[in-house]
Amino acid sequence: NKVVLAYSGGLDTSIILKWLQETYDCEVVTFTADLGQGEELEPARKKAEMFGCKEIYIEDLREEFVRDYVFPMFRANALYEGVYLLGTSIARPLIAKRQIEIAKATGADAVCHGATGKGNDQVRFELGYYALNPDIKVIAPWREWDLNSRTKLIDYAEKHQIPIAKDKRGEAPFSVDANLLHTSSEGKALEDPWTEAPEYVYNRIVSPEEAPDTPTYIEIDFKKGDPVAIDGVKMSPAEILTKLNELGGANGIGRLDLLENRFVGMKSRGIYETPGGTILLTAHRGMESITLDRGAMHLKDELMPKYAELIYNGFWFSPEREMLQALIDKSQEHVEGTVRLKLYKGSATLVGRKSPKSLYSMEHVTFEEDQVYDQRDAEGFIKLNALRLRLQKKRGDADIPP
Ligand code: ARG
Ligand code: SIN
Repeated sequence: NKVVLAYSGGLDTSIILKWLQETYDCEVVTFTADLGQGEELEPARKKAEMFGCKEIYIEDLREEFVRDYVFPMFRANALYEGVYLLGTSIARPLIAKRQIEIAKATGADAVCHGATGKGNDQVRFELGYYALNPDIKVIAPWREWDLNSRTKLIDYAEKHQIPIAKDKRGEAPFSVDANLLHTSSEGKALEDPWTEAPEYVYNRIVSPEEAPDTPTYIEIDFKKGDPVAIDGVKMSPAEILTKLNELGGANGIGRLDLLENRFVGMKSRGIYETPGGTILLTAHRGMESITLDRGAMHLKDELMPKYAELIYNGFWFSPEREMLQALIDKSQEHVEGTVRLKLYKGSATLVGRKSPKSLYSMEHVTFEEDQVYDQRDAEGFIKLNALRLRLQKKRGDADIPP
């Protein structure tokens, strides 16, 4: 028997690797993905070899991640609980999918992840696994082993000659998850929701106070709801997000201090950094504002919280997410053109938009005289809308309080 482990190369997943070999006496296939977390991947290969692994998968998934997961999600303007851009949530289905594919290619009958039994990530990984292979065996060490304290983990590592970086000996100050879309920090030093996060928690966005005193203007071109160029330069999806991350990071854009509801029922506090995503949300909304019909826009806005919750709860590979995606994608047919943004000390402000598919009619909206709109039409429009309000008042109903 063989298991495919989602392996970062870090201390925790190295302990998991060893623990799998010991506990299950199985062959471990490691899978390490570059999702833009900004870490070297080759050390993970060296370590896996050191543990005697023969099948080692190291893959650059940045383009697939942005093209097939991040951009489709941004077409919906998805936000969980009003503010969270779902940076961790959206990466899990892709990791799960690759693990299942690698299990098939290597003849493994099990997969393993390093998420704890208290969080959302275990749910997201495992719903993905089961949706793609209903018979797969899942191993979640954090729910099984008794290495439930830092001391026990370090002891275990020492006993098995697993190298421990100096700064990893003590308690880690908080847990970090990073990819091209965001970096999230949770736990430990951040657990008191009343205490402001110290500056050192942030690692990819300067504080707005430190950001440049002069604004940066950028233009983003869209096609079918996806960004395709910045300042006229065509780029691939991952290149665009990388560029927006640079711009947002330098201008203090995309920091978030959030207390959220986890799927498992508890509330948790996190510090999120989503520089490029924050710019992209404003840009995309701006592009829609000039190209989308009102009915289409309001309908997708109503469905958005549902769509965001599905992604947060780990139901990316579900029929209802796929149905909503079809609706959202259909709405994006004419979402094309250019938006102009001003980036300045923590904010991304939309300052201009234009489109060959514009529904904005200067001719109609002008305060000057026009030939296309008869103001007298508005009288009947208002009268019929007022009819039921008038009938109610005539019945003698009390005034509706302010
Ligand atoms: N609470 C966020 C989510 O559920 C992030 C979870 C992972 N982050 C971490 N620092 N371990 O999407
Ligand atoms: C974890 O528990 O592994 C991270 C936090 C989460 O999944 O919500």
